Amino acid sequence: MAHYRSLGSVPPKRHTQHRDPDGQLYREELMGEEGFSSDSSLLYHRGVPSAIVDSQVWELPDQTRTPNHPLKPRHLELHTLFEGDATADAVTGRRLVLGNNDVRIGYVVAGPGASPYYRNAIGDECVYVESGSGVVETVFGTLSYRTGDYVIVPRATTHRWVVGEASRLYPIEANSHIAPPKRYLSRFGQFLEHAPYCERDLVGPTETFVVEGENVEVLVKHRAGGAVLGTRMTYATHPFDVVGWDGCLYPYTFNIEDYMPITGKVHQPPPVHQVFEGHNFVICNFLPRKVDYHELAIPVPYYHSNVDSDEVMFYVGGDYEARKGSGINIGSISLHPGGHAHGPQPSAIEASLGVEYFEESAVMVDTFAPLDLGEGGLAAEDPAYAWTWAGRGPGADGEGDGGPAVFSNS
Ligand SMILES: [Fe+2]
Repeated sequence: MAHYRSLGSVPPKRHTQHRDPDGQLYREELMGEEGFSSDSSLLYHRGVPSAIVDSQVWELPDQTRTPNHPLKPRHLELHTLFEGDATADAVTGRRLVLGNNDVRIGYVVAGPGASPYYRNAIGDECVYVESGSGVVETVFGTLSYRTGDYVIVPRATTHRWVVGEASRLYPIEANSHIAPPKRYLSRFGQFLEHAPYCERDLVGPTETFVVEGENVEVLVKHRAGGAVLGTRMTYATHPFDVVGWDGCLYPYTFNIEDYMPITGKVHQPPPVHQVFEGHNFVICNFLPRKVDYHELAIPVPYYHSNVDSDEVMFYVGGDYEARKGSGINIGSISLHPGGHAHGPQPSAIEASLGVEYFEESAVMVDTFAPLDLGEGGLAAEDPAYAWTWAGRGPGADGEGDGGPAVFSNS
């Protein structure tokens, strides 16, 4: 984030004495990216941010990754992973759906209440809120969230999720930072005119958030020996003791409805729908919009073989009545791996001719390294999907229904 923000009490000059009304020094902490060479913020703590009194193993949920082998497109029905009342919490309840060494995609349906305190030391998190509402409490202040929000939490930000309305959350956990695409920004970081959103759409904390407490546990997700591991650290004083901070590094939300889709006379490629990028992956969103207006336009995409990418579409909204029988529905993921062309079936192409408006909404993650299946992905798979273009699977010789098996934009 290139946009400077200052909340609460900060001294006029950085790295100088800053005291509370009783004369006690606040403890200054720099949270900075890329070794003092990129965005940072200065936080002023009441307590000592380094003071821990215990460190224990936190056993993470199953992080097993299974290669997509034999190679095939996959359809994962995430809504089948959490049945009944939502009782999981937004942090420890996450099930790993897909992952590689650059990014891990999870899913959780979190019930009302607070998660443990948590921070991800591996990378930034972009949590898409499929539905629900609540608050994310952080050392920088609180963020309200609602359906359609991307909640961006920078690496190593201590926070917790306080769910109000049961929330379907789609965490995209990077091993890097997540930011708006560089091509949307000026050389000094301001959003340019061609960008589909701008600073006004990004919602950060508006006031500091201080909590009293001692011996507070924080779950830390981190890497060691190439593995994703967890540690439970106990802090002598509450980590939410920041009376003021300023800088360009902080959590924020962006609602998908504030993305202004870019349309064209003929089919526009997915990069016009990009919203964020991380190292070796991008995040795009496909939203309700007018579609291609050339008199001979084909609104659905051409077949495409993204030779460098695995493509993950998460279908989050829209009218899927026309797709009955295809398998894809709200809450579905399609994984279209590199090395295999994908696109619509002929019936979907014909059906799209003359259409002026698409209602569907989807969040897409394209990775530049192959994705493995997590335990949640394996548990949610619809095994018939790979054969829906041909209309028949292995060992079958009849005519299948061959219904449209892909989203209009994928
Ligand atoms: Fe695609």
